[in-house]
Amino acid sequence: MTEALQIISNEHRSMWQLTVVLEELCKHLGKGEEKPDAALFGMILDYIEQYVERVHEPKEEAFLYKAVLARSSEGNEMIAEFQREHANTPADVARLRARLKAVVGAYPEGAREFRQTLEDYISMMRQHIMKEESDLFPLARRVLTEADWQGINSAFADSRDPLFGESALIEFRALMSRIVNQAPAPIGFGLVGAANAVVEAHPVLLSVANLTSSYGRIQALRGVNIEVRQGQLVALVGANGAGKTTLLRAISGVQKASGGKVVFAGHDITHMRPDQRVRLGICQVPEGRQVFGPLTVEDNLRLGAYTRSDKVSVAEDMEQMYGMFPILRQKYRQAAGTLSGGQQQMLAMARALMGRPKLLLLDEPSMGLAPLLIQEIFNAIISLREHGKTVFLVEQNAQAALSIADRAYVIETGETVLSGTGSELLDNEQVRSAYLGI
Ligand SMILES: Nc1ncnc2c1ncn2[C@@H]1O[C@H](COP(=O)(O)OP(=O)(O)O)[C@@H](O)[C@H]1O
Ligand SMILES: [Mg+2]
Repeated sequence: MTEALQIISNEHRSMWQLTVVLEELCKHLGKGEEKPDAALFGMILDYIEQYVERVHEPKEEAFLYKAVLARSSEGNEMIAEFQREHANTPADVARLRARLKAVVGAYPEGAREFRQTLEDYISMMRQHIMKEESDLFPLARRVLTEADWQGINSAFADSRDPLFGESALIEFRALMSRIVNQAPAPIGFGLVGAANAVVEAHPVLLSVANLTSSYGRIQALRGVNIEVRQGQLVALVGANGAGKTTLLRAISGVQKASGGKVVFAGHDITHMRPDQRVRLGICQVPEGRQVFGPLTVEDNLRLGAYTRSDKVSVAEDMEQMYGMFPILRQKYRQAAGTLSGGQQQMLAMARALMGRPKLLLLDEPSMGLAPLLIQEIFNAIISLREHGKTVFLVEQNAQAALSIADRAYVIETGETVLSGTGSELLDNEQVRSAYLGI
């Protein structure tokens, strides 16, 4: 992806998160139990006004839209629509502010109108984002020349622009953390809160102590210490090559430990065969998914249950998976290979769950996915926790993983160097500078 499109994608991802937050706040409004928090909504509207309207939209129009229009007429209609939507942003924000003011003054009167206006805005914003990514981006890639891209990329990458680039992202994160602190209940993606409520009272399911492991002379794990309690979502974040995959392989038994100890559900499994560990209830979803492409979605799920003999509950579990991942029900007769990357990731998780594991190991489920799909995958992982599953999630995408984790660890060159609740690590200076680019 070109630099500019990557930047726009990142911004879209931030905006999409905002829509998730707004949607969640809408649900609260819908229950009619609470007056909307004027300060919280005000902050979000400020952000849309300052950032989306003054920075994101003008830059897109002045560089990307302009270049595409100059090269091809194919996008004329679509771009005109985008421009109309951009031009409407001030009016949209003003309407939301007016409705907010009205409901805060006369609550519960005006709640329905405010909610409706919000819902309309959310769906417009989402459609706009999706259409840009699915239609405009491919068109731009097709028609723009190398020289066009140079101009666009350098405009987008200009981080000296105080309103743009990295500084915008930092502003977005600051806004998100203010929302986290002000929001009621646990809301949406990236908003911790109730996540940490899975308390230490839960029994320890997996404990890894001083684990070391090598590939020949290369020592990949130099001392890993981790604890996963039942029902928790525990994340391990670290850079490429830090040893994340090796650790998962060592936990599932396909990689030998040279020292230390791994205890699972009360058994010392440090030197146990992989198949015995599977039988004890450890299941790993490997990096890069690996579903069986030619088989249907349903057959892939059935395969996940092959170690089980209880046919009746296999059908029940299949039903549960379709409940958790509705897109799989829609596509149950399709060949798995025809699913999108995000859907294949969901299928890989669901297939693993069909074996009824006690512990699910996920290796970089967001890898190689477009920003919007990453969002879906993380929502799916949140729903796993809501279904009481115990999950150990390994990710390079620290921001997303820490936002949803009950507990988290940082691994650097084969050593766990930090641990805490997800939100503690998100706030940690060291983590922020090394992994979140703040
Ligand atoms: N099959 C292998 N043979 C030799 N070295 C390997 C192998 N797999 C990984 N490594 C090395 O082990 C270290 C950790 O790799 P890995 O666990 O894949 O990291 P991560 O999953 O965090 O990106 C890296 O230095 C990598 O080069
Ligand atoms: Mg890896």
